[in-house]
Amino acid sequence: MKKSNILKPPVEVFYEEELKALEQNDKELKPKNWRLSPKAVKTFILGSSRNIEYNDGKKIKINKKFYGDDSLIERCIITLAGNRGLMLVGEPGTAKTMLSELLSAAISGTSTNTVQGTAGTTEDMIKYSWNYAMLLGTGPTKEALVPSPLYVGMNRGIITRFEELTRCPAEVQDSLISIVSDKVLNIPELGDEGLLFAEPGFNIIATANTRDKGVNEMSSALKRRFNFETIFPISDVSLEAKIIEQEVEKLVKESGIKVKIDRDVVNILATTFHELREGVSAQGSRIDKPAAVMSTAEAVSVCYQTAMTSYYFEKSEMRVDSMVQNILGTVVKESRDDIDKLKNYFNIIIKSKSLKEGGLWKEFYEARKWIK
Ligand SMILES: Nc1ncnc2c1ncn2[C@@H]1O[C@H](COP(=O)(O)OP(=O)(O)O)[C@@H](O)[C@H]1O
Ligand SMILES: [Mg+2]
Repeated sequence: MKKSNILKPPVEVFYEEELKALEQNDKELKPKNWRLSPKAVKTFILGSSRNIEYNDGKKIKINKKFYGDDSLIERCIITLAGNRGLMLVGEPGTAKTMLSELLSAAISGTSTNTVQGTAGTTEDMIKYSWNYAMLLGTGPTKEALVPSPLYVGMNRGIITRFEELTRCPAEVQDSLISIVSDKVLNIPELGDEGLLFAEPGFNIIATANTRDKGVNEMSSALKRRFNFETIFPISDVSLEAKIIEQEVEKLVKESGIKVKIDRDVVNILATTFHELREGVSAQGSRIDKPAAVMSTAEAVSVCYQTAMTSYYFEKSEMRVDSMVQNILGTVVKESRDDIDKLKNYFNIIIKSKSLKEGGLWKEFYEARKWIK
């Protein structure tokens, strides 16, 4: 797979060089069928302090990819080496998907063996289905069986990612119970050959959004088969600004456009998102929170939109005018009534900042004319 021909390369392709370098330097013990040792998986996600050498002389620094609780990463890795599944829970946009992709790529070499949970997910999609033309011709045979990502994970000894598990109907979720606990899948149609025992290396990383139906509706039998880790939104504004900048720079580079990501503009964006999410300003004033998800992922998308607008339409630096329009787009996603909340926020909090700080904050305040 070549990076340049894919709109969004999977993690293992995007970080191919880093993974290769880690693999070549990895002298630690590995759980069976793991591509990297637990230590190297951790370095892949949290970064290395020094360059590491690979391919006889080439040097590479492993970039930090996940910001937050470092010990959470260790716990996730240890869970995956054990016999329980890993369940990542949190608000939308807290990097659950990103983390599950990074873990799968580092441990199994692939992040694409995935089931996407929806209200329409059926048991067939989780276990296996049949190629009906072959089924009619030859009857139920291994060749006529169409494996699901879970089947593939068990068969090859790799991780299966299960996105948004709690969006599936409860009885469909429960078909996972025996697979996670006994590591065996029963295929009654195949008779004597109808048992698929999982290879070592197989495990499940599931994600669940607290905003969806939620983990409350997950059966306790299934809950017991998973270790739960909650990921919280980033609490530090300057760290969030750094992540937004880094992510947007990556997106801009991938899309082949040239635009400078202005640090000061990003800081304003991060502050705004942070305050609207928390419902308090940096000075301690209360703010009416909009119902929309003001996540880091959403801020990245607002910033990227703003960067593209300046590149394609304005041939200029990033401007707060188009940023305010994009922020408005995020805020009204849940309810149009929240426009008033955003207006109030500008009229009170941003106004006072613009008076105190001037400069870009003043421009930002003036751009409130777009909120209507
Ligand atoms: N703690 C974090 N560390 C690094 N990036 C983060 C973090 N939180 C959010 N992000 C950014 O936001 C995006 C979150 O998107 P995603 O993984 O799809 O979230 P989720 O699956 O939780 O809804 C990431 O791709 C990353 O760009
Ligand atoms: Mg997700």
